Formats: sequence, C-alpha cells, structure tokens
Amino acid sequence: MATILVTGAAGYIGTHTCIELFAAGHQVVALDNFSNSKPEAMRRVARIAGREPLFHRGDIRDRVALDTLFATHAIDAVIHFAGLKSVGESLSEPLRYYDNNISGSLTLLECMGRAGVRRLVFSSSANVYGDPHTVPVTESFPLGPTNPYGRSKYMMELMLRDLAAAEPAWRIGLLRYFNPVGAHESGLIGEDPHGTPNNLLPYISKVAIGKLEQLNIFGGDYPTADGTGVRDYIHVVDLAAAHVKTLQALEREAGVQTLNVGTGTGYSVLEMVAAFSRISGCAIPFRIVGRRAGDIACSYADPSLAHAVLGWRAQHDLDAMCRDSWRWQQGNPDGYPDD
Ligand code: NAD
Ligand code: WQD
Repeated sequence: MATILVTGAAGYIGTHTCIELFAAGHQVVALDNFSNSKPEAMRRVARIAGREPLFHRGDIRDRVALDTLFATHAIDAVIHFAGLKSVGESLSEPLRYYDNNISGSLTLLECMGRAGVRRLVFSSSANVYGDPHTVPVTESFPLGPTNPYGRSKYMMELMLRDLAAAEPAWRIGLLRYFNPVGAHESGLIGEDPHGTPNNLLPYISKVAIGKLEQLNIFGGDYPTADGTGVRDYIHVVDLAAAHVKTLQALEREAGVQTLNVGTGTGYSVLEMVAAFSRISGCAIPFRIVGRRAGDIACSYADPSLAHAVLGWRAQHDLDAMCRDSWRWQQGNPDGYPDD
C-alpha cells in the first residue's frame, strides 16, 4: 500500500483513477481547484469506493499549499492530471494554458523534489504526435503538436526527460492517452463537460438524450473507409487501471517510461454513431459538415509497449464504452449538481 497524491482528482480521469487506486489498496490524497469539476464528483468517488480520499481544495500553482500538503502527508508518488485540456480554448487563450499546464507542473515538480518525492505519472496525450500520417502510432513516431494544448504536453515531456537525466532518482511514467470515453459502471461518475461538448462521445450522448438536436460530423471526405475521422477510443476505467499498473512498473523500472494508452483499434465517427444508437435505442440525427480546423484523418495506437512494460491491456470493448457513457448520461442528464 502506498499513499498517492492525485492532482486534478475531481476531473473525469482523476475520479475514475481514485476508484482504481482504492481498489488496489492505496491511500489517496486528492487535490483539485474545481476549475473544471465539482465537489460532488469527490463525494461520488467516496460513495463508490466506500472510502474517503483526503481531499484538499487547492491549485498546483500554489507553492505554499503544495509544500504544506507534502509536509502533512507521507506521499510516495504523484499522479498528475491537473491541467486544462481543450484544444480550441488553448488556441484562443494560450497563456492560460501554458500557465496552468507548464507553470503549474513546474511548481508541482519543485515541491515534489523538495519533499523527496520522485515518482510521477504524467498525463500526456496522443495530441503530441500531431498528424501521425501512418497508423498504428508507436511511441517512437516523430512528435509535432499543432496547438498550444498539445505543445504544453510536449514541453512537459521534454522537461521531465531532462529532469530524469539530471537526477536519476526520478522515476516517471509519461502516458499518452488516446481518446478516453465511457464512465464507471455504477453510473455515478463520468465526463461532465461545461456547456456544449467539444468531444464526440459527450456530444452524441447529449443528442441521444434530446438535449442537442443533431450531431455535426466534421468531414465526410477523409481518406478513411467511410470518409469520417478514425480514433482510438479507450474506456476510462481501462485508462485508470493503466495508472495503477504504471505505479507498479515504477517500482521495477528506473528512468522514464513513455507509453501509448489506447486499445489499438480505430473506429470512425459513423461507427461510433451507429454503436451508440444501437446501445441506447435512440436515434442520433446527424449531418455531415466541413472539417474542423486542426483535425486529422486517422489515429490509433500501437499499445504493445504498454502491454510489455505494464502487463496492461484494455479490457472494455466499444459496446461497454457506449453502455457506460449512456448509463451516466441517463442518470445525470445535467451532469453533477452544483453545491
Ligand atoms: P478534467 O478537466 O476533467 O480534469 C482535470 C482536473 O484538474 C479538473 O478537475 C480541474 O478542476 C483540475 N485542475 C485544472 N487546473 C488545475 C490547477 N491549476 N490546480 C488544481 N487543479 C486543477 O480533464 P480529464 O479529462 O480528467 O484530463 C486529465 C488529464 O489528462 C489532463 O491533464 C488532460 O490534459 C489529460 N488528457 C485528457 C484527455 C481527454 O480526452 N480527456 C486526453 C489526453 C490527455
Ligand atoms: C473525435 C472525432 C472529430 C465532435 C481531442 C484532443 C486530444 C484528446 C482527446 C486531450 C474526430 C469528430 C467530434 C463533433 C465530430 N484530448 N467529431 N463532431 O479531436 O480526436 O481529440 O480529445 O488530450 O488531444 O485533440 O477528439 O472527440 O473531439 O473528436 O464529427 O461534434 O469525432 O472530427 O474525427 P479528438 P474528439
């Protein structure tokens, strides 16, 4: 059993990871500033786990708060989710993104170093590959993010590698997530975007429940089997489990482990619409519109390195992703309630 600090714990991936950490017998110290989440999410985590995370409301850019947190708890490792994640927003507010994702992460690293905590799992993104041109994507593909969000992840990867090279006591997992979807099977926690969703699955489920009229499919002329974009959708519970496995791997492996976290299978937008419609029993009206700026045709992972290093593989198929997203959507049509 270890004590794990989870930053961004109240968010979509953070909540699901807290559950998996508890299930693996770990203690969870949770930190979030609720800039993109609500306190109710942490209460739901406690309800599902039957255990209370030690929650601190605070910001990763707050050095004093972090020093106090590390002085209060005997933290063994950090899983660092806190950050901003909208590609579109990052294009219009780049400095807010660099401040949160870079300055925030640097402050966290400094405080970790001061406290002698040198194990970290960092949320990177498939976005660092930019347009991969061929698939499946392996970790050795060239990196070339095309927006400030992706560049913030890329820069953090570079800094973390420099840090581990300078101070070999650091053990770091850089997990490049593909497209997380789905929700916990209890239906109590899930993705709760503010306003109109940017991402495909949250948008589809809002159309299915009748809160949005129809899906706009961004591009029907991509060089893919049906002309719509192809992505590697991964169930958030599988993604959460990969974090627990990464902590175990950092016990064995020194240095930096850079791993794709995906299923290895790509689905098109039309395939996602058909699957969600079949599982929910709801019609998903759609129309095909122009491409969204910055989108790529096709991206899916080669997840074999994660399997070799972590002994991890995604377990949930597309039906489970749709079923669990739909259960969360039906039970929480307006997301988490405000306090
Ligand atoms: P999320 O927005 O649901 O969760 C992030 C959490 O961090 C939120 O609860 C937010 O309130 C908190 N937070 C943000 N800035 C903070 C700060 N300065 N101090 C303290 N807390 C702060 O996002 P998510 O989907 O759970 O993503 C988690 C991480 O994974 C992010 O770093 C994101 O960039 C990365 N990621 C997400 C996806 C995705 O599609 N969801 C894909 C690849 C990578
Ligand atoms: C998926 C497919 C769209 C919405 C983004 C980030 C990535 C990662 C995950 C953080 C694409 C199409 C979507 C809609 C549509 N996040 N689509 N209509 O763009 O692969 O990845 O989220 O790290 O970094 O870039 O995910 O869910 O937005 O889109 O047709 O209303 O669905 O064109 O083909 P994306 P997405």
